[in-house]
Amino acid sequence: MEIKIKEILPGEKKPKPKDESKLGFGKIFSDHFFTMEYKEGVGWRNASIEPYRPLILDPAAMCLHYGQEFFEGMKAYRGKDGAIYLFRPMENIRRMNSSAERLCSPVIDEELFLEALKKLIILDKDWIPKSEGTALYIRPTMIATEAALGVHPADEFLFFIILCPVGAYYPQGFSPTKIYVSEEHVRAVRGGVGNIKAAGNYAASLLASKKASALGCTQVLWLDALERKYVEEVGTSNIFILIGDELLTPPLSGSILPGVTRDSVIAMARSWGVKVTERAPSIDEIIMAHGKGTLKEIFASGTAAIVSPVGQICYKDIECVIGGGKVGKLTERLYREILDIQYGVKNDPFGWRVKIYP
Ligand code: COI
Repeated sequence: MEIKIKEILPGEKKPKPKDESKLGFGKIFSDHFFTMEYKEGVGWRNASIEPYRPLILDPAAMCLHYGQEFFEGMKAYRGKDGAIYLFRPMENIRRMNSSAERLCSPVIDEELFLEALKKLIILDKDWIPKSEGTALYIRPTMIATEAALGVHPADEFLFFIILCPVGAYYPQGFSPTKIYVSEEHVRAVRGGVGNIKAAGNYAASLLASKKASALGCTQVLWLDALERKYVEEVGTSNIFILIGDELLTPPLSGSILPGVTRDSVIAMARSWGVKVTERAPSIDEIIMAHGKGTLKEIFASGTAAIVSPVGQICYKDIECVIGGGKVGKLTERLYREILDIQYGVKNDPFGWRVKIYP
């Protein structure tokens, strides 16, 4: 399918952020976006890149009522050499399609998706920030647009991609975060939608996050829904726990998001000879390991958060400070090496980096 491009008039371009240290996350959007419509029986049509604008939606659009909506999170990086890189884009594209299947929504041709991404990013390439740790965050999203109030899989959809220059996801940057273990609320249960990027997962997480903030914590550590015992994820990211010399991360058992960064951390750590086991430790095991002095590091991994150290966990009335509240060695090494691959600083033995420009 041909992608039509309607460029913004030069006089209508938005001012670019001047101070890249103040970018924050997700507040500024580039000049253009990609959209494409779907109608059952017709398929995908009207692929276009056009000036960023509000969407026009019927108030009965099904995404607004029943949450038939999902998204992806990716980044484009400005390399030290000035080139533009993506990181394992096909993984996100395939994950978007598995979200589509789970939510009875149409899949998108992988090649068309990648082409749309590349064209949009190259058109808005001046929006890619240059300082270390910054990137152009990419948010592909699909929403059900059929106007109907009966609960059924919609027959009309809109797919769009927006771009947003970002800095660190957490306001404290790469400093260790304090996390709150939620006993009351859960993120997902096997058989539900925790293993896809359903928008509703994030709405459901807000109350626990609010409670975490009120207690001075940055994020929530989620326990499994059935026993409220085993760790699942942290905030909007996957979680890794280093106990002794073994790096643990919960297996993809149905309620865990198959994170692209999670997969990269596992592969990278294993390539260094670190023993990585896909097993979910219980919160009691973590507290006990802390007591015995064998809990060495905890970190979160995700596209937005990259690799983000956890410095303290608050569970009931117990507060565990991890590694003296400092960034652990393995966390720091993974963070650096992943960034070096993403920004084209180092060789990429894994073949993860994709140069899209020039
Ligand atoms: C990402 O890491 O890209 C995510 O999707 C998390 C997001 C909700 C900020």
